[in-house]
Amino acid sequence: MPTPAPGQATTPVPALRASESPDTGSGGPTVAELLDFVRRTADDAALVASLPLDPEGRTWLRLEGPGGSEAWLIGWPPGTGTGWHDHAESAGAFTVATGALREHSLAARLPTDGWKSLELHEGIDRTRELRAGEGRGFGRHHVHEVLNESERAHAVSVHAYYPPLPQIRRYSRTGATLRLEQTERPEDWK
Ligand SMILES: [Fe+2]
Repeated sequence: MPTPAPGQATTPVPALRASESPDTGSGGPTVAELLDFVRRTADDAALVASLPLDPEGRTWLRLEGPGGSEAWLIGWPPGTGTGWHDHAESAGAFTVATGALREHSLAARLPTDGWKSLELHEGIDRTRELRAGEGRGFGRHHVHEVLNESERAHAVSVHAYYPPLPQIRRYSRTGATLRLEQTERPEDWK
């Protein structure tokens, strides 16, 4: 597929139907089970307190997720965020253990491959604030960015993905234009 010229309108983005429920779809743990795991883990005050916090950047602790899933405890200093990304074929769930996180997401199913730039329809942006004890599950190809908007308080959250993350696609966003910048694979994260 040819790469579109800059500014050229590209693939249309169909909106998600309300009836489409997230499902890992591969015989592993369900999104509900991942959500249950992250909630129970976020309630483990000793585990949450064991995560080293760094004011200069995010910190991670790998956890054993249910049914072979990949799980992480993540610390977010004030003002840090992920940037726009998806988790490819992995579904997942996350919940806030301490502090609060903001999630911006797209209520749209993006074409999986073969594009560099998408013009997003109006009305597909979603935003939600997740406070301690609040979480969400998501299906495959969920596109989002997660931020700690606090000026003072660290946030700590628990995340689980199934299948274990084969790749993450990173995007830049300018207005309604979403541009694929980078595809990262596990070997890039070491
Ligand atoms: Fe994510």
